Amino acid sequence: MKNRITEILGSEYPIIQGAMRRISLGELAAAVSRAGGFGIIGASGMEGNALRAEIRKARSLTGKPFGLNIPIYRPNALEALEIAAEEGLKTITTSAGDPGKIIRRVKEAGLSILHVVATVDMARKAEAAGVDGVIAVGAEGGGHVGRDEISTLVLIPQGVDAVRIPVVAAGGIGDGRGLAAAFALGAEGVQMGTRFLATQESPVPSVYKQAILTAKDDGTMIAARKGYPIRVLKNRAALAVREMDEKGASQAEINAFVDSLSDKGKGGEGEGLMSAGQVAGLIRDIKTVEEVIRSLVAEAKAVAQRLEKQF
Ligand SMILES: Cc1cc2nc3c(=O)[nH]c(=O)nc-3n(C[C@H](O)[C@H](O)[C@H](O)COP(=O)(O)O)c2cc1C
Repeated sequence: MKNRITEILGSEYPIIQGAMRRISLGELAAAVSRAGGFGIIGASGMEGNALRAEIRKARSLTGKPFGLNIPIYRPNALEALEIAAEEGLKTITTSAGDPGKIIRRVKEAGLSILHVVATVDMARKAEAAGVDGVIAVGAEGGGHVGRDEISTLVLIPQGVDAVRIPVVAAGGIGDGRGLAAAFALGAEGVQMGTRFLATQESPVPSVYKQAILTAKDDGTMIAARKGYPIRVLKNRAALAVREMDEKGASQAEINAFVDSLSDKGKGGEGEGLMSAGQVAGLIRDIKTVEEVIRSLVAEAKAVAQRLEKQF
């Protein structure tokens, strides 16, 4: 498959494995790229040497391209950008911040950049700053979500109408129906997090994967709505964060609590915060990354054929 996104990424399919803090490391990213998608190593929470080691590990596992996600507001953003350039990556994604702050260096280094947005306005600003494409994430997605909680179904077509650069859809995509739907809305690619969490290659403990398998459509919630909204599996930790938030805890206090929970190693029910999207309710098996990508593409093709007959 060829379109503007596969051209930017250099991948076979416009299917991106979204960055997942301390989860999407070299091994998962390489597995996704090997299977024809585009794997991403998350730079969030990683110091320079560890990050370099993960990039080199991915490189040792695949000759196919993979990328790095850099949260712009983090203090290590510029260091991560230099590491991406030095290690010969071609594409980065950025999130949580203004891409205008780093775009000049990104372009000098010859990198392509896709920026994560949660509103149409953010997409317009990212385009004006000079990014090559945007990844529009709806509020059903796992991890940090936009404050305005705009869903993928309405965000994508409005984003596509507002910018000329290609739009990648994220949030709520877990099978070929979701892939076909994203393309029907005008997206030229998809980014998935939760579906790749529940794979054999994902490094999270099995209790986390099991919690995704047992989650239903209402199995996630947005914790810390007032602070820094994050979609997680509904458990005691998530409810505790929501309570802190509602009682007016400062963003710093909530972030410290959230970080301490995540650092406990993604524990079991009630022990840690486990980010996941609403699509968890659709995930019923732990596939290999290759099976996920193969079945996604085959099912999307079948959906397109069915629609062609119907309309
Ligand atoms: C466990 C987890 C951690 C995440 N960490 C990050 C991150 O560090 N940076 C980022 O830009 N997005 C992060 N995300 C968002 C994903 O990259 C992706 O956009 C999102 O999962 C898409 O929605 P889905 O979960 O419905 O597929 C995270 C998502 C999850 C589930």
